[in-house]
Amino acid sequence: MGPPGSGKGTRAKMIGKMYRIPVIAAGDMLREAVAKGTDEGAVARAYMSRGELVPDDIVIRITEERLSKPDTENGFVLDGFPRSMRQAVALDRILKKQNATLDTLLYVTAKPDTIVGRLSLRRSCPKCGAVYHLRDMPPKEEGVCDECGGRLILREDDVEEIIRHRFEVYEKQTFPILERYQAVGKAKEISGELNIDQIPGAIEEILGKPQVL
Ligand code: AP5
Repeated sequence: MGPPGSGKGTRAKMIGKMYRIPVIAAGDMLREAVAKGTDEGAVARAYMSRGELVPDDIVIRITEERLSKPDTENGFVLDGFPRSMRQAVALDRILKKQNATLDTLLYVTAKPDTIVGRLSLRRSCPKCGAVYHLRDMPPKEEGVCDECGGRLILREDDVEEIIRHRFEVYEKQTFPILERYQAVGKAKEISGELNIDQIPGAIEEILGKPQVL
């Protein structure tokens, strides 16, 4: 959890690699639905392009379906879910059904200036969801995804006015659910201001050393 551009996706992908667990990113799944041209995708796009949260029913359904796949049996990292109280309650229900528990909620904190600098220089791969930063994490070849060779784009919601609105939506609708996890000691803060190479160490301090298989 964290404001837009704080580095949730970057950290989630590192956690996925370090602990060899799938990364389930709500934003990526929604962008996939948009790209496929499904009815849900069309609804989602209208909200996403304005920087609003997509209706809970859609996001919960997509996330629940993804969590029912067998690759989640040994754990998973959720990026960008839950973002509302209804989603938090739904996550409790889904985890209970799967006999799973939430270990940790990591919340990323970052200054607004850092966020604006990051999002304006972010480039994303619409094919595989990989994320780059033109100055700090550039792709090997300009405009081309290292992972899948896809063409990198600037997301349509990464324009200043919409970024500002996404930030307000985060403060109003998502930040309040943090208390729920703080009350049971599951919420742990991770700085969004760290350099890329400092992040794995900070993750290990919170989640412990990955098991060597
Ligand atoms: P989503 O795709 O989740 O976007 P977001 O929350 O706004 O977050 P971002 O993806 O913009 O940023 P991030 O924090 O992941 O940062 P990143 O790691 O990329 O959601 C988009 C939309 O979908 C929402 O607005 C909403 O409409 C909808 N949606 C999604 N989930 C939903 C839900 N649960 N319910 C309802 N609607 C939902 O990093 C940013 C940049 O900084 C990158 O370029 C990266 O390379 C760089 N960077 C990161 N860390 C560092 C570092 N330490 N040093 C230098 N550069 C860094």
